[in-house]
Amino acid sequence: MSLFASDKNLALELVRGTEAAVMASGRWMGRNNKNEVDRAAVEAMRFMLNSVNMNGVVVIGEGEKDEAPMLFNGEKLGTGEGPEIDIAVDPIDGTRSMALGRGGAISVVAAADRGSMFGPDKLFYMEKIVTGPDAADFIDIEAPIHVNVRRVAKARGKAVEDVTVVLLDRPRNDYIKEELVRIGARISLITDGDIAGSLMTCWMGGSADLLLGSGGSPEAVISACAIKCLGGGMQCKPYFRNQEDEDNAKARGIDKHTVFTMDDLVKSDNVFFAATGASDGALLKGVAYMGNSIHTWSLCMRSKSGTARYIEAVHSPKKLAQLGSTIVYSTADAQRQ
Ligand code: FBP
Repeated sequence: MSLFASDKNLALELVRGTEAAVMASGRWMGRNNKNEVDRAAVEAMRFMLNSVNMNGVVVIGEGEKDEAPMLFNGEKLGTGEGPEIDIAVDPIDGTRSMALGRGGAISVVAAADRGSMFGPDKLFYMEKIVTGPDAADFIDIEAPIHVNVRRVAKARGKAVEDVTVVLLDRPRNDYIKEELVRIGARISLITDGDIAGSLMTCWMGGSADLLLGSGGSPEAVISACAIKCLGGGMQCKPYFRNQEDEDNAKARGIDKHTVFTMDDLVKSDNVFFAATGASDGALLKGVAYMGNSIHTWSLCMRSKSGTARYIEAVHSPKKLAQLGSTIVYSTADAQRQ
């Protein structure tokens, strides 16, 4: 059977989960309460994804390192009917940004064939290099920074001075910043949210050329799912904060020399990805409350077909509340005319 006749594009269902997450957690924007941002997003996402026809198991629930409210690893999601899949979620990537009223937070879900996603477990951080399709074959995480930047510049027909590198602003990444300043590349520093940062290197020609630096491992696996859909390139290495991290990894046969390719992070070529903007960012606009409606902006993609869609949605909180979505929509929404 052809791709089109044989199966559904699950991303178009998963996006309902990310939309619900931002609509619920968006009410906590700027209220300095990370836990409520996460809790609202998690509950809404769980509620919505449980209505999707799939037999999903959460492989990455996110939140272990922060002890945040989360979907649990091993948790079943969906109706139990339909495809057997692994699910990775980050109900809000950029929880701190949301809590502090800053931009760039998104909600994400990725799905792939059962057993195909890497489970980070206690490997909390990874060094990452990500680029778009035209430079995908030229990056090497083991090569020096200046070599990677020059190769990407060449592949994209640019001067090094025109290359924009996204970097998570953390002391552990300062050495990369110093090297980029030395060679004269442009730096786009992000306070949080390196999934959106990774996507910026691939999406629509990309406003960025490269993402470098270490960030969360769950975010690495989720980013790999998105990059696989868009045809970009990504490699990772473990980043150990201390001896305990290193010992935990060693017990799994992982050491500082281990390189994770995109296929190591997600083996399957049958991958789905959905993201919705929680607060305004370069990739997606954040959720907007308009009184009688709530507006969301999302991205939906699928690796098999290579189709990526922008979806702008207008939701009716009142109708949804009448259908029983009390977790997602406030009682004020339910009463509003
Ligand atoms: P969460 O909002 O999901 O907690 O993650 C935000 C984030 O900035 C990720 O995008 C990034 O990979 C990770 O945190 C970096 O971790 P840390 O803040 O501990 O350096």
